[in-house]
Amino acid sequence: MRIGILGSGLIGGKLGAVFARAGHEVIFSYSRHPEKLEELARKENARVGTPHEAAQQSELLLLAVHWSRLEDVLAQVGHLAGKTIVTCSLPMNADDTGLVIAHTSSGAEALAKRVPDTNVVSAFGTVPSEVLFEVFEARKQKNHPSLLYAGDEAESKETVAKLIQDVGFEPVDAGPLRMARYLEPFTLLMAQLAYEGDRGPELAYRFEWLGE
Ligand SMILES: NC(=O)c1ccc[n+]([C@@H]2O[C@H](COP(=O)([O-])OP(=O)(O)OC[C@H]3O[C@@H](n4cnc5c(N)ncnc54)[C@H](OP(=O)(O)O)[C@@H]3O)[C@@H](O)[C@H]2O)c1
Repeated sequence: MRIGILGSGLIGGKLGAVFARAGHEVIFSYSRHPEKLEELARKENARVGTPHEAAQQSELLLLAVHWSRLEDVLAQVGHLAGKTIVTCSLPMNADDTGLVIAHTSSGAEALAKRVPDTNVVSAFGTVPSEVLFEVFEARKQKNHPSLLYAGDEAESKETVAKLIQDVGFEPVDAGPLRMARYLEPFTLLMAQLAYEGDRGPELAYRFEWLGE
């Protein structure tokens, strides 16, 4: 699959890298430092493009920018009709102290409203970027960590579930996109544990259904 990365920083850069290592064609985009994108692409056998190129040449897009950059990115990508957009972007305020959308909506739902002819799936935001390479390296072992995802369109969700497996997680379908109202605050909990706890940021989670 061809995957465009919009925002190739801590999480976008690492996710793009593991997508490429899993065999996908990756186009990194959106940075103030083009040399960082070139370096990433060279290392991961991927390509660099403008956000417009990344969007137009890909079937699936990963949105991995700070919420405050959303409009700037969307202004650069052109038509997105029919595309799957996976968002891991949390709707945080400028100083990252709180969610600007919560309770009655979510960043993922706001994105879906903003680009209504696309299929938005919320995924990959619930783990810290620090854990991604380790999970990918262990993908052939048993007992994969879980990764929650939510979306409204069945085919896009299936594609994203496969991508989640490619990275080494067990996909856990949280339901329709409005479940992102719960996933996004859950991400704040994960961030607290990862960055404010004393056990380090290499943190993942695993759900078990004991009745099965
Ligand atoms: N990091 C995580 O573990 C994690 C986990 C869950 C969710 N998220 C979410 O993922 C999103 C991205 O987080 P991140 O940690 O990957 O952030 P980040 O490292 O700052 O990456 C943001 C990306 O946007 C680019 N960018 C381009 N123009 C920019 C501008 N004018 N101002 C700021 N950035 C610009 C940055 O490139 P340059 O800096 O090179 O210009 C970088 O590629 C956020 O919404 C965050 O809530 C992150």
